[in-house]
Amino acid sequence: GEGGALSGRHVVVTAGPTHEPLDPVRYVANRSSGKQGYAIARACRQLGARVTLVAGPTALPDPRGIETVHVETARQMLAASEAALPADAFVACAAVADYRPAYETEHKVKKERGGLTAIDLTENPDVLASIARHASRRPALVIGFAAETDDVLGHAEAKRARKGCDWIVANDVSPGTGTMGGDRNAVTLITGEGDEAWEDLPKSEVSRRLAERIAGALGPAPG
Ligand code: C5P
Repeated sequence: GEGGALSGRHVVVTAGPTHEPLDPVRYVANRSSGKQGYAIARACRQLGARVTLVAGPTALPDPRGIETVHVETARQMLAASEAALPADAFVACAAVADYRPAYETEHKVKKERGGLTAIDLTENPDVLASIARHASRRPALVIGFAAETDDVLGHAEAKRARKGCDWIVANDVSPGTGTMGGDRNAVTLITGEGDEAWEDLPKSEVSRRLAERIAGALGPAPG
């Protein structure tokens, strides 16, 4: 609330999957629930930040006190994220589709007319890398997520450099961890000044700690 460690700050959070249309009724998507991103948005709000949540399609209700911008595609997520700037911190929690169908047909693809037996794909913009390298309005703190199934820390550190972000929150999403769609998460925070492994925690608690770390990195509230 007022007077919190993030009061006077603006935090933009992306969350959920993206849906990439093929035709008016079909899309390519992934299994992201949006839970972790929504929880981070709420935790930042709880510390007094103004929060903009850029959300792909999820089953979650709009969090109270948070401006939620609903998008479907990666390109819309990038446009909405850029439109939300300036911000003090950007947290890219969304599971953005790396590729989208190269052609979106105006009418439903019909089986009787040959149907759909292959899908040409084209690369989507990288929302995190675009915001981290924004020419005029790069937020002071840009945080990405890395969901990996092997060599979690190695891949995550490489990702931090490649994307140009400040921190990476790395987690293991191997089958059996229950992270995807679940309520708990065991993460390692990679800051460039060392790796911090956090114990297995509810996503709400991961979010609370991350919000506190964001506040600490941004320093005392302005004004
Ligand atoms: O490269 P990878 O998808 O594993 O990177 C994950 C991180 O990058 C997450 O923070 C995710 O939100 C972000 N990302 C993005 N736009 C993409 C792909 C990933 O913002 N097109």
